[in-house]
Amino acid sequence: MAIKTIGVLTSGGDAPGMNAAIRAVTRSGICNGFDVYGIYRGFEGLINGEIEHFTSESVSNIISRGGTILRTARSKSFMTPEGRKAAYEQMQKHGIDCLCVIGGNGSLTGAKIFAEEYNIPCIGLPGTIDNDLDGTDFTIGYDTTLNTIMQCVDKIRDTATSHERVFFVEVMGRDAGFLAQNSAIAAGAEAAIIPEEQTKEDQLAHYIGRGMRKSKSSSIVIVSESPKCGAMHYAKRLQKEYEGYDVRVSILGHLQRGGSPSARDRILASRLGVGAIQAIKEGQRNVMIGVKNNEIVYVPFSRAILGQKPMDKSLITVLDELSI
Ligand code: F6P
Repeated sequence: MAIKTIGVLTSGGDAPGMNAAIRAVTRSGICNGFDVYGIYRGFEGLINGEIEHFTSESVSNIISRGGTILRTARSKSFMTPEGRKAAYEQMQKHGIDCLCVIGGNGSLTGAKIFAEEYNIPCIGLPGTIDNDLDGTDFTIGYDTTLNTIMQCVDKIRDTATSHERVFFVEVMGRDAGFLAQNSAIAAGAEAAIIPEEQTKEDQLAHYIGRGMRKSKSSSIVIVSESPKCGAMHYAKRLQKEYEGYDVRVSILGHLQRGGSPSARDRILASRLGVGAIQAIKEGQRNVMIGVKNNEIVYVPFSRAILGQKPMDKSLITVLDELSI
């Protein structure tokens, strides 16, 4: 059956550039003859019928805004068969025959289950600051967050240098170290402690072993968030196991997710939104639109959500060699 009506929603953690993606899906959808509906509060809003017909004006003046005009949620109800049934009924009620889901791993997992259960075409757009979706080089929001972290660390550097301190700066990323590793390179930090390297040698010992103490009077270590081994954990360990350091911790928290999206994120989101409509026209379903080597690609949901996106190991050498 030919698709006539597309619903667009944002789900999971907000990410800068989500608005640019909503705008792109809406306007490209309209340009290509589709009816577009905005669905508020992610899958939760779909279940509750929080659905609005979108015109080109509905997405005016939003490209520069962080967050998401559609709001977002991590819907518990959608994880249940009853919730998904209610969502399906709302789609039928509004005549929506295809869903564009802008979100991260959890959101695309939800989309995959829903698509399979009800035979609904779903298209995913990678919207997460974590950059952890497999099959795409970048996710919407990652670049802006990287820049935000870099700016924060630049400021922390002033205090670290003035007081000759060691700072452990904790950044987001869930189970992935892309934000930590790359912000460490961008901010000229002395080390990054990332989940991808956790099973190898002790990362704190590695950092100390590189002679940081001898060569520098202050340093900054970027630590990926972790319930057990976050910045606080390493700061305590450093004070206990090695003497003579003046140690501080800075947990950047949700400020990392806010702010006006970078040009790179706006362009990425715009390309992916147009790519999503193109994919629908081509009869694609249950794929995430990604960008690989600067080309738009279609990644099956099953691959995108694997949670095994590899970290380029050369980035570790780059940081190690440049932080002596
Ligand atoms: O997935 C985006 C993200 O910001 C992660 O980096 C972080 O672990 C999580 O969301 C935080 O979620 P919440 O905003 O629900 O605390």
